[in-house]
Amino acid sequence: MSHPQSGTTVRLASVHEVPEGAGREFRVGKRFIAVFRHGGEFFALEDVCPHAGAPLSEGPLQNGTIMCLWHAWRFNLRDGVCVNIPKAPPVPTYPLAVQGDDLFVTLPATEAESG
Ligand code: FES
Repeated sequence: MSHPQSGTTVRLASVHEVPEGAGREFRVGKRFIAVFRHGGEFFALEDVCPHAGAPLSEGPLQNGTIMCLWHAWRFNLRDGVCVNIPKAPPVPTYPLAVQGDDLFVTLPATEAESG
């Protein structure tokens, strides 16, 4: 369990639960994961805005970014980097895999098990 690449992969949902152009929130342990479908691709980010904690899954998608509804910070879906506030910390992102009709997310082992 000490491999740096190791993690915990869990089934989050069916692909049909996340419609195109929308986000959904899923809970894994005590962690909230936002999953988005944008341009036919799926993305998983922590569902907590690093500014003041808003749920990012409720925001609108635009050109590969998700906008936080509270104060309009926007984050790149691929790497979590904030695109309009240079000093903002990034949102953690997680590998997401589609297998058949299911979505699987991989969380770092320490994060998946802590809390
Ligand atoms: S809480 Fe997200 S921008 Fe302020």
